[in-house]
Amino acid sequence: MASVEFRDVDKIYPGDIRAASDINLTVEDRELLVLVGPSGCGKSTVLRMVAGLEEATSGCIFFDGINVTDLPPKDRDIAMVFQNYALYPHMNVYDNMAFGLKLRKHPKEEIGELVLDTARILGIEQLLERKPKALSGGQRQRVALGRAIVRKPSVFLFDEPLSNLDAKMRVQMRTEIRRLNLDIQTTMIYVTHDQVEAMTLGDRLAVMDEGTIQQVGTPIELYNRPVNRFVGEFIGSPAMNFFEGKLSGTGETPVFKASFTSFPVPERFRSSPGSLVGRTLTLGVRPEDLYISVPDGNEGGFHHTEVVIDVSETLGNEMIFHVDAGGHRMVVREDPDVNGSYGDRVRLSIDLDRIHFFDGGTGASLLAG
Ligand SMILES: Nc1ncnc2c1ncn2[C@@H]1O[C@H](COP(=O)(O)OP(=O)(O)O)[C@@H](O)[C@H]1O
Ligand SMILES: [Mg+2]
Repeated sequence: MASVEFRDVDKIYPGDIRAASDINLTVEDRELLVLVGPSGCGKSTVLRMVAGLEEATSGCIFFDGINVTDLPPKDRDIAMVFQNYALYPHMNVYDNMAFGLKLRKHPKEEIGELVLDTARILGIEQLLERKPKALSGGQRQRVALGRAIVRKPSVFLFDEPLSNLDAKMRVQMRTEIRRLNLDIQTTMIYVTHDQVEAMTLGDRLAVMDEGTIQQVGTPIELYNRPVNRFVGEFIGSPAMNFFEGKLSGTGETPVFKASFTSFPVPERFRSSPGSLVGRTLTLGVRPEDLYISVPDGNEGGFHHTEVVIDVSETLGNEMIFHVDAGGHRMVVREDPDVNGSYGDRVRLSIDLDRIHFFDGGTGASLLAG
């Protein structure tokens, strides 16, 4: 068991490539923390510094309060599972899982017990005699997990371990990894570029962009209160809709004016520091906070505008409408029984209690304080 703490960690690769900047983060004991962000944002670099495979350029890393920054990988009591899990092809599953324990000179009987216990947790007891080539992708990935778990490390590191699996297997394996975390109660740091995987797996997520951590929080905190436009856009699918606009009106009741509509800025944004008026803002609205179904008379909390339906997608459990508001495209997520087809002119209702405003320049949320 261990907590993992980063203090002011930077990583600059030769050639002045700044892969990680000012990383300050504590992963709690037994927590499953997901590092998520687009390709190239520095996730693997951060994970490899925990493993000791990359040296931090500055700053320190602590396991349970002990500075491990200069410890070699073998002394860190971690196990890592990669996308390419390269099992030994000539060894059967049992030997693949036992290999690391043999290297560490564990007693033979103990190895047998550990491998069997681990195989049971992962549901691969019946595969122990098989060679890797006789396994499916999902089974192989399970063996790779087994090989890591069997050593009972203090910290597990996963770097996009499911990327090579097909969509269905990915969904199944991510549930299994979550279950594993609950079963074996070990600290895990999990890297992925897939925000759905991140949301479903993580106790908390650290969202990265261009080498820096943008926000750390539970899935629901990130979803409901993104601190900036990047996080708002990255988390959630279909993605948040964005519209540029300006604030005008008197200081008491500033009005947000986008090209296709305008409405008074809701109360909760008005205490934001700095004068709002004259500022360029970006309105952010999630697809489920837009409606084409709000009945007349139910006006409270909604702002209405006219749009034309373009493409509609019937998914069975929901409808997705792509609509056009004077040249602005937006995505609306609706209940499955809501009708609308190409060319229909409809009233679009925006739930003002759920909108976001971001600074037009910095992208910071007006509510981030
Ligand atoms: N060994 C290396 N030498 C130089 N640059 C590297 C090295 N490894 C990664 N980088 C660069 O650092 C940045 C972050 O890479 P990485 O941590 O692999 O991102 P991610 O895992 O989020 O895709 C990228 O710009 C990448 O090209
Ligand atoms: Mg990577």
